[in-house]
Amino acid sequence: QAIRTFYHARGFVEVETPFLTKSTPEGARDFLVPSRLEPGKFYALPQSPQLFKQLLMVAGLDKYFQIVKCFRDEDFRANRQPEFTQLDVEMSFVDEEDIYESTEALLVETTTAVIDREVSTPLPRLSYAEAMERFGSDKPDLRFGMELVDISDIAGRSEFRVFRSSLEAGGEVRSMVVPGGAKFTRQEIDALTARAQELGAKGLAWYRVKPEGLDGPIAKFLADDLQQALITTLAAKPGDLIVAVADKAKVARTVLGQLRLDLAKELGMIPPPPSEGGPIAFCWIVDVPLFEWNEKTSRWDPTHHPFTSPREEDIQYLESDPGRVMSRAYDLVLNGEEVASGSIRIHDFDLQESIFKVLQFTEEEIEGRFGFFVRALRYGAPPHGGIAPGIERWLMCLFGRESIRDVMAFPKTQSGVCLLTGAPAPVDEAQLRELGLRLRPE
Ligand code: AMO
Ligand code: AMP
Repeated sequence: QAIRTFYHARGFVEVETPFLTKSTPEGARDFLVPSRLEPGKFYALPQSPQLFKQLLMVAGLDKYFQIVKCFRDEDFRANRQPEFTQLDVEMSFVDEEDIYESTEALLVETTTAVIDREVSTPLPRLSYAEAMERFGSDKPDLRFGMELVDISDIAGRSEFRVFRSSLEAGGEVRSMVVPGGAKFTRQEIDALTARAQELGAKGLAWYRVKPEGLDGPIAKFLADDLQQALITTLAAKPGDLIVAVADKAKVARTVLGQLRLDLAKELGMIPPPPSEGGPIAFCWIVDVPLFEWNEKTSRWDPTHHPFTSPREEDIQYLESDPGRVMSRAYDLVLNGEEVASGSIRIHDFDLQESIFKVLQFTEEEIEGRFGFFVRALRYGAPPHGGIAPGIERWLMCLFGRESIRDVMAFPKTQSGVCLLTGAPAPVDEAQLRELGLRLRPE
């Protein structure tokens, strides 16, 4: 109700968009619905109303919102359900600042309405690169410290073979201070190392901080002055544990980023949830790359979705160096969860076409999947952009729940089953026949 009051007061029009539709490109698998009238053809349930809301902008509606179900057939996680609810918003003639400002106003009003707490704005903004460097995550939890620090400089001057060879191979050595961690037993540290390896690191370097310097099996590879330099750089105190990972930048950062979260939980550093008076750490993640390289398919994938606008000044690199093209996308993070995501869109047909080219869509694929949409862009689209908070995920964070199921009525289990109704369930042979379907037992 707070959401509706907010948008209606600002002249937004609430529009419902279809559920029986065509595949929408949010990167998950579609849920399909077979057609009886056109056997062999299928509707896809929308992963989001993305293309519909953009079409509404082309049609001249300049302020749209909807509270809408989205459907995604993807692997389960604690913060995911196959059907969930978005607050979907789109506006014409806006830039990033307009979206930040109006979304922040919404957050202020709804947080007061739902948990009677204040949110102070403007919200902090972190570039994607900075978030990865300092927190090893694109959805950093800013409620506690243990920030990651690049120690390549010091590591490169050490005698430790693992550090030096990793640096020579173009990697980095990144580290983190675990407050009070020197008290961990050898067994606990081995478990931490195993966890780092499970996350993709080759190992975990560690040092106990003592008043006289560093202690541990590999401390001897760091000369006294380097030990002191490390302690100073990391502002470590006696009783702390220093851990480090040497690897490709991405691996070193994401592994430590995950250890940071695991350890914060273990050490009781996570404060109570916003609903119980704890911190409400919202932040915007900005300066997000437009594409990410997919190792498996050896192709560029859109970081957000294919309709996100590149930054004007980077358009020149679309063909020559897609990896350096920055997008006009933004994510909203709350206490370590991505709660909303959006972008300023492409409104120019030719630009949209060159993005499809980078993504290696063929003409037939473009026509088949998005023909109706690119034709609309040809008619002339206003500049537009929007955002979509996931309502349940947002509530889950406000109330500090471990699982999104805790804030949903009739959620599904890990295996996608509705425990109440037993869905999904087999159907009659007659129903299948009507739909022109036959099961293939395999
Ligand atoms: P995106 O795919 O990032 O963007 O989704 C937006 C937000 O929806 C929530 N969310 C989910 N919540 C629960 N279960 C899921 N399976 C799930 N998947 C996503 C998250 C996420 O931040 N059309 C774009 C938005 C836009 O560009 O305007 C979109 O859907 O909170
Ligand atoms: P090793 O020389 O392989 O016996 O490893 C010695 C120590 O370095 C162990 O504590 C390993 O866990 C750690 N280690 C190995 N590889 C790495 C790496 N890439 N980054 C950080 N520490 C590592």
